[in-house]
Amino acid sequence: MRLSGLLRTKSINADHSLGGPALRPVLGPVDLTLLGIGAIIGAGIFVLTGVAAATQAGPAIILSYLVAGTACAFSALAYAELAASIGGCGSAYGYSYAGLGEIVAWMIGWDLILEYSVATSAVAIGWSAYADNALEAVGLALPLVLQQGPLEGGWINLPAALIVLTLGVLLSIGVRESARVNAVMVLVKLSAIAVFVIVAASHVEPANWSPFMPFGWSGVMGGAALIFFAYIGFDAVSTAAEEARNPQRDLPIGILVSLAVCTVIYILVAGLLTLVVAYPSLNVGSPVADVMLRLGYPWAAGVIAAGAIAGLTTVMLVLYYGLTRVFLAMSRDGLLPPVFARVHPRTATPVRVILISGLLMAAIAGFTPIGQVAELVNIGTLAAFFLVCLGVIWLRYTHPDLPRPFRTPWSPLIPLLGAAACLYLALQLPLITWLRFGLWLLLGLVIYFAYSRRHSALAVAESGA
Ligand code: ALA
Repeated sequence: MRLSGLLRTKSINADHSLGGPALRPVLGPVDLTLLGIGAIIGAGIFVLTGVAAATQAGPAIILSYLVAGTACAFSALAYAELAASIGGCGSAYGYSYAGLGEIVAWMIGWDLILEYSVATSAVAIGWSAYADNALEAVGLALPLVLQQGPLEGGWINLPAALIVLTLGVLLSIGVRESARVNAVMVLVKLSAIAVFVIVAASHVEPANWSPFMPFGWSGVMGGAALIFFAYIGFDAVSTAAEEARNPQRDLPIGILVSLAVCTVIYILVAGLLTLVVAYPSLNVGSPVADVMLRLGYPWAAGVIAAGAIAGLTTVMLVLYYGLTRVFLAMSRDGLLPPVFARVHPRTATPVRVILISGLLMAAIAGFTPIGQVAELVNIGTLAAFFLVCLGVIWLRYTHPDLPRPFRTPWSPLIPLLGAAACLYLALQLPLITWLRFGLWLLLGLVIYFAYSRRHSALAVAESGA
């Protein structure tokens, strides 16, 4: 076996189109920023914050948000540099292929598939709980067997499966249309959060912050590893590289502005939640709406529920979008079967890959309790961020003259801190999550050696040369 093949790299300015119909560059800086906010604000703040505050960090959950936000800020700067200088809709997969070699690229692409598909399916299950409540409220409750998968005693989680398929149809219609729907829903969720902030601000009880750190620093760090989930999604902006009008300028804007806006929102919401009620009482599935109810504002709780439904929808939409673009990039390079590589000439979207991955995720969301392994999303994303941070340092060394429209400041310090912070957060995750992640990577290696290595476009070109 020739080991050199495993480390072959793709030329940085490789043509992505394959000569067939291409993706259409229609997205501007506002679309990209809204896609970022769409992907970021969702189950993390609307669901996880309560559990994390009650069981891990206490009121110091605000520090957990600061820690996870800082790790993400360093990684976002690294993403911004590579997205602007290398581009391509494969995101971290493509950057690794250009800098670190085929096997690393494959593993990171395989990892991104895990991140985006598990996140989409798990959020679909969270979405279905809200949808079931809403249907019940208007007297149209679904039978229980259609609310849960077979492992929980039902037949199928129908709303979870249906929402994934519906988003698949939207993504197939066009990226511009998807971005418009995303923008409207982002407005709904931001308005809901504004209502919470205004109402909660007048019920602050400083005594609720004492004790501030009931579980010590280890609780703060455990909380940070858990609510890291809340920040996931800004990386998906980088998969829009081939659909951005001016990617070199606008991708860094989309990535950095969306992350900055969401960090401020998270710190505000987490701070208010723990100031308004005692932290142990936040251990509920919908803490933000619940607090509004307890303060005596049922209308505000309704608005928050609508905001949460909109928020979870945009998270699924953008992560599903990212998944299809990574699939597309990997199959154009021959590492996945070519069936995924075709872009529809009329809609300029990869319709086949959208439908195939949509059916798979709908089946996972409908028939499995995937939410129980959602921490896999954190470890998968942390692994991608870790490599992107190291990728910046490596490419500065191997390609010093590469045009860099955006440069990570204080490199290599910032990317090194980013990589260290991601590793540290990943180490806070439970052993079982590491084992599951290891199994996924092992499966990836098997597929690589059984299929991708031989079908890689670079390998084919080498053997023909
Ligand atoms: N950041 C996304 C969420 O919180 C994944 O739902």
